[in-house]
Amino acid sequence: MKGLKISNAKIVNEGTIEQKDILIIGNRISKIGNHLEVSEDIEVFDASGKYIIPGLIDDQVHFREPGLTHKATIESESKAALAGGITSFLEMPNTNPQTTTLEEWEAKNERAAQTSYANYGFMFGGTNDNLDQILALDSKRVPALKLFLGSSTGNMLVDDPDVLRNIFRNTNLVIAVHCEDEATIKENLKLAQSQYGEAIPIDQHPIIRSHEACYLSSSKAIELAKETGARLHVFHLSTAKELSLFQNDIPLKEKKITAEVCVHHLWFNDTDYKKKGTHIKWNPAIKTQNDQEALWEGLNSDLLDVLATDHAPHTLEEKSNPYNAAPSGGPLVQHALSALLTAYHQKRISLEKIIEKACHNPALLFDVKDRGYLREGYFADMVVLDLDREYEVKKEDLLYQCGWSPFEGTTFKGVVEKTLLNGQWAYDQGKVNPKSAAMALTFDR
Ligand code: DOR
Repeated sequence: MKGLKISNAKIVNEGTIEQKDILIIGNRISKIGNHLEVSEDIEVFDASGKYIIPGLIDDQVHFREPGLTHKATIESESKAALAGGITSFLEMPNTNPQTTTLEEWEAKNERAAQTSYANYGFMFGGTNDNLDQILALDSKRVPALKLFLGSSTGNMLVDDPDVLRNIFRNTNLVIAVHCEDEATIKENLKLAQSQYGEAIPIDQHPIIRSHEACYLSSSKAIELAKETGARLHVFHLSTAKELSLFQNDIPLKEKKITAEVCVHHLWFNDTDYKKKGTHIKWNPAIKTQNDQEALWEGLNSDLLDVLATDHAPHTLEEKSNPYNAAPSGGPLVQHALSALLTAYHQKRISLEKIIEKACHNPALLFDVKDRGYLREGYFADMVVLDLDREYEVKKEDLLYQCGWSPFEGTTFKGVVEKTLLNGQWAYDQGKVNPKSAAMALTFDR
C-alpha cells in the first residue's frame, strides 16, 4: 500500500493549531505525531510554512445532473470543488428528473460513481406525494431529506400542510429545508409589478423575497419540528431576525434544530446589487448590511452550525435576463474557502471556527463516516493552504462549466495549493488529477 508523509505542517483541527507530521497509508490517516520516522519508500511532502486542514464537506450544492447539463455537470463542478478545498459534497434533488424516487436517486449515484472527482452524497427530495419512497430510504447512504418550503429553481414546493406533518412525524432522517413563505413572496411580487411593470429593478429582490417571507417560513417549520420531534436543519439563513429561532446553549449533537449559513450571505449585502446585478440574485435574497453582520455574529456565537455554499450555477445567458426571468443562484465552490480565509484576515472569524463550521460540523450533523476531522483511522481528505498569498479571481482560471463567478475581479488572501482526497493528490496548484479517487459518502447511523 502506498504511503505519504506530510511533515512540518501547521494543522488546524478540533479547535487547535499545532505543528505535526501526518502519515497516510492507502486512503486513510495512519498516524499524526511529532517527527514521525518513516521508511524510504514513503513519499514525503514538506509542508513547512503551510497550513493543513480537513477537506471541507459542503452540505448544499446543485451540480445540475441529470437534465440541466447545459449549466453544469457532476464532473465539472466536483473538479471546481477540489480546487476550492471541498473534498465532499451533498447534492440537491432539484435536477431533471427530480431526485424524488429511489430509482432516480440510485441513477444519480451511479452517474457520480463514474464521473465525480470529489466524495459524494445525494439528498432525497420530498414532494406532496412520495412519503412511501421517503420511508424506504437507506439512512446509511442517504444524507438527508430536502424539502423546498418556498419555491426556487425546479418547482419542488411542498405546500400541503398534512403531507408536511406526516413527513415530519414519520422520518428519522435529518430534514433540510429551504424556507421562504410562498404567499408573502407572491404578494410582494404583485406589488412590485404594479409599481414597475415588467422592468423590476434587481434591488427589489430582497423586498420581494423579504425578511418576513423568511421568518414566517422558518418559524413555521421550526414549530412543526418541535411539535413532531423531527430533526430539522434550516438551510441558508439570510436574516438577523431568524437567528432568534436557534439556540447556542447546547452542543451540536444534542440540537434537534440546526442552521446553515452560506458564503454569499456573509460576503455580499444589498449595496452590491448595483454593481453585480442578477449575478448575486439568490433565493433567499442577499439582504442588508445589518443582516450580514448578524450572520457573522450568529456564526461566531454558534447560533449557526454549518458553513456551506449553495453552489447553484446557471449560464451567463440565463443570468443576463431581466430581473424576473433571471434564475437565482450562482457558482461558489471554487472560491468559498478563499473568501472565508480572507474574512479570517479581516478578523471576522478564526481559522479554528472556519474548520469547525465547514469541516467538523457537517460531518457531525449528518453522521458522515470517518471524515471531517484529521484523526488516525479517518479517510485522508485534507487541504494544503498558503494563507499569505493573494490572488485575483479571473475568468480564465474558473473551472465551472458556466464560465463565470460572482467573485470575478475580487482579490482574496488565502490560496488552496493542494487537495488530498482519500490519500491521493487530487488537485495541485491549478491542475486536477485526471485519475479520480472519489468515493460515495456513507453515514454512520
Ligand atoms: O438561489 C438559489 N438557487 N436558491 C435555491 O434554493 C436553488 C438554487 C438553484 O438550484 O438554482
